[in-house]
Amino acid sequence: MEKNPFKFGSIVNEPYFTNRTKEIEKVISVLNSENHLVLVGPRRYGKSSLVFKVVSELKRPVIALDLQLITGAHDLAAQLLRRIYRVFPFERVRQYVKHFRVIPTISVNPVTNEVDISFQAGSDNPALLEDVLNLLEKLSKKGKRLIVVFDEFQELGKIDARLLNQFRSIMQHHQKVNYVFLGSQESLMREIFEKKKSPFYHFGLLMNLEKIPYREFHDFLSANFKKVINNPNQISENILSVTGCHPYYTQQFAWVIWEKILKDKAARNIHEEAVQELIRTHDMDYERIWMNFNKSDKKMLIGLSFSDLSPLSEMFLREFDLGASSTAFSTLKRLAQSGYVTKITNRYEIDDPFFKIWIRQRRKA
Ligand SMILES: Nc1ncnc2c1ncn2[C@@H]1O[C@H](COP(=O)(O)OP(=O)(O)OP(=O)(O)O)[C@@H](O)[C@H]1O
Ligand SMILES: [Mg+2]
Repeated sequence: MEKNPFKFGSIVNEPYFTNRTKEIEKVISVLNSENHLVLVGPRRYGKSSLVFKVVSELKRPVIALDLQLITGAHDLAAQLLRRIYRVFPFERVRQYVKHFRVIPTISVNPVTNEVDISFQAGSDNPALLEDVLNLLEKLSKKGKRLIVVFDEFQELGKIDARLLNQFRSIMQHHQKVNYVFLGSQESLMREIFEKKKSPFYHFGLLMNLEKIPYREFHDFLSANFKKVINNPNQISENILSVTGCHPYYTQQFAWVIWEKILKDKAARNIHEEAVQELIRTHDMDYERIWMNFNKSDKKMLIGLSFSDLSPLSEMFLREFDLGASSTAFSTLKRLAQSGYVTKITNRYEIDDPFFKIWIRQRRKA
């Protein structure tokens, strides 16, 4: 039996990874220079997949930390140090750590060899993070430069408002590390890297990650579906017309369709059944999300799921009873910040194509 060739949710590499040739080239050229990279793109567009694909090809040491899960400056220092221990030889790291101004408690799990770090609670000493960050530079080698990836970097200022300044003042002296800053909240990322008064102003090359181009995604889907059906082009078209080339939802939808084909090759309406199945699976989440929206959010989302007009046009505002365009604009901004709506060049769309269909169905029911 053919193995399902689609994968969604986690980081993907070959053979699940398609296209991104230009982006790969650009990321390689930044990481092979002494510059830093800022990669901005909506949730699940493939930021991590792109970066980790390049990094694994470069065969250089990499440390990655997701700032979403960090609870404070202390925790940040400890989590970074843990990852440093994973990548560099224990003894080499120890030689530096023993000169830290605040000495951490380090315990090694005897089975996994995984290191656990803790700093004495309550000591609000900025030297802690400074020593750990500078350790990155000390351990890195010129010929095999260390790559440090911060995921959801826009969270740094929320962890502690002073951290942005502190990070930048330390990192600007680093010569042997390439930093990669990933972020899914475009407006916050732009504020950090594009606003003149921000400490990180123009600190790295800013790259915007877009959806996968229609042609390439179509060919990727067809090449896979042709192993099990005769009309792969039709099914690929159907998939992309629902998902609008969103990397994650396209793979997820294709995965479900593949399973259905394997069960019954002759079945009709596979495509529609798969849509309904996905909506059913997420029904409870959608319901919960919906309940938490305020009235203008709901009106805006209803409008976006039914109409192709610009949500700031007069006709749209009138048809969906949205009031003044300034109010509608702040609604859109809020929905974009929480990731429910994505702005693509000058268009706004609901990020999750199945949520969009769910809203339409509920309204029509
Ligand atoms: N180049 C690609 N080709 C095909 N599918 C891809 C590609 N990149 C990403 N995807 C799909 O998108 C999913 C999410 O990718 P990834 O986790 O890299 O995105 P992300 O932007 O880092 O997401 P998050 O915001 O959750 O961190 C993957 O599991 C895969 O299904
Ligand atoms: Mg990611």
